[in-house]
Amino acid sequence: MNDLKDALDFSDKVIVVAGGNGLIGSAITKALSKLNATSIVLDQGKNNIVDIKNVHFIEINQSYSQDGVKKIVDSIELNFGPVFGLINCMTTKVKDENLYFSAISDYTLSTWKEIVEGNLHNTFLLCREIGLRMVSRSTGSIVNFCSIYGAEMGPDLRIYEKTSTENKLMTTPVSYTVSKGGIQALSKHLATSWAQNGVRVNAISPGGVFNNQSKEFVRAYSNRVPFGRMANVEEIIGLPIFLLSDLSSYITGQNLFIDGGLSAW
Ligand SMILES: NC(=O)c1ccc[n+]([C@@H]2O[C@H](COP(=O)([O-])OP(=O)(O)OC[C@H]3O[C@@H](n4cnc5c(N)ncnc54)[C@H](O)[C@@H]3O)[C@@H](O)[C@H]2O)c1
Repeated sequence: MNDLKDALDFSDKVIVVAGGNGLIGSAITKALSKLNATSIVLDQGKNNIVDIKNVHFIEINQSYSQDGVKKIVDSIELNFGPVFGLINCMTTKVKDENLYFSAISDYTLSTWKEIVEGNLHNTFLLCREIGLRMVSRSTGSIVNFCSIYGAEMGPDLRIYEKTSTENKLMTTPVSYTVSKGGIQALSKHLATSWAQNGVRVNAISPGGVFNNQSKEFVRAYSNRVPFGRMANVEEIIGLPIFLLSDLSSYITGQNLFIDGGLSAW
């Protein structure tokens, strides 16, 4: 029992959470704080994770450059110590929802590029910069958030029919599906490349998480799920923490689903 407890004690461990301001990222960061980790949140805009023990915020631009990422990680390691864990739970949206959510026939190449670059290229640059440092120290764990879409399945667009409200469009765009599929492939490639170097890389594909979506959407989505409901954000945090910890020391290169059984149906 003590061993189990020790495995979940992240004292002296530095974990970078990219997108740690978001719905899932902030819940993970709060949980890591309770487990004594030092978390570094990389996100845009204002810090939402205020006054939480051992959580530090670094504001970043939407698009990373190789040199920019190196500078950020240099400064993290100088100020806080070697990075042990990386959780990528960022997701890029463009300002104009109509462009982001537009149909395949109307999808502009510039929106496509912005989303694919934001989701996939940034994940690659961060994984490479931090992963190679982990390789040099022979220890580390990376967890990349993908999605049920782009992993096992394409979106069931019937779920989104008639679920938009006046203020909120509900659908899932092709750029999202493709970039999330790419992150899954990236995770497997890095996992096999670094398996001999003590660095594990896994992906997590959540299903829909409840976040005050319209009643119509929640009903339509839940009908597709064996559990008959969306996930609560608290139900997402256990798996990334398990994957960071030594409890998962023989797991690498996997894409694990938290989807209430949706992908099994
Ligand atoms: N919430 C869901 O229902 C759901 C379902 C399937 C998959 N996912 C995936 O889980 C992850 C987390 O989702 P979420 O619901 O918390 O999303 P969210 O939109 O609440 O949070 C994403 C965060 O990423 C940040 N971000 C954007 N670009 C960034 C960058 N370049 N660097 C760092 N941060 C950046 C945003 O500012 C935001 O705070 C995402 O990868 C998402 O695709 C979520």
